[in-house]
Amino acid sequence: MQTPVAVLISGSGSNLQSIIDQTEAGSLPIKICCVISNKPDAFGLERARKHGIPAVCIPSRGKTRAEHEKELIAVLDSHGAELVVLAGYMRLLTPVLLERFKGRIINIHPALLPSFPGTHGYEDAWNYGVKVSGCSVHFVDEGCDTGPIILQAINPVEPGDTLESFKKRGLAIEHQALPEAIRLYCTGRLHIDGRRVLVEPDAAESTGGSGCTG
Ligand code: GRF
Repeated sequence: MQTPVAVLISGSGSNLQSIIDQTEAGSLPIKICCVISNKPDAFGLERARKHGIPAVCIPSRGKTRAEHEKELIAVLDSHGAELVVLAGYMRLLTPVLLERFKGRIINIHPALLPSFPGTHGYEDAWNYGVKVSGCSVHFVDEGCDTGPIILQAINPVEPGDTLESFKKRGLAIEHQALPEAIRLYCTGRLHIDGRRVLVEPDAAESTGGSGCTG
């Protein structure tokens, strides 16, 4: 079964591209039902169109957040979205969207939460002088990068790194982490238990041993 997934973006869409690539390669059991940007010039819209994915801009300018989200919901519903993935979508959500897609919205953040939330994860971690950073994929709540964490992947700072090289390596790590979280969600392996996200073992991997139950 292919889960209909909507991807929300505001910019370049390199994470969107990794989802498209893994989907086309057959390693993600999803259909990207639409890509929505709040910015008309987001390059991610072009990436989507190039792959025949419906791409819609819903500008947020001049609207209340609730008004904007009502428009989003209409488009998400018209494409039958079951999971909403925020991939570089630079807006906080309100209860309007959160209630409609309760437990079905995930986001990728470019730092190891709860460190360095907000819009400049790479820069903030780099300027702080961390030795290890990474990315976090989490369910979305009303806060800024505060929802329950699904998975994290690490990006150690290497000798000779610059902010650019640190960020480039970090983005490549994001491009694996976000599809992996989507895969876990779409195969029904995630359960939210308060602040904790329980990840069920992979059925294929947990059927090791003799397989003989008597
Ligand atoms: C990524 O670093 C993501 O973690 C953050 O915004 C950036 C989006 O990059 N939320 P892209 O648009 O996917 O290239």
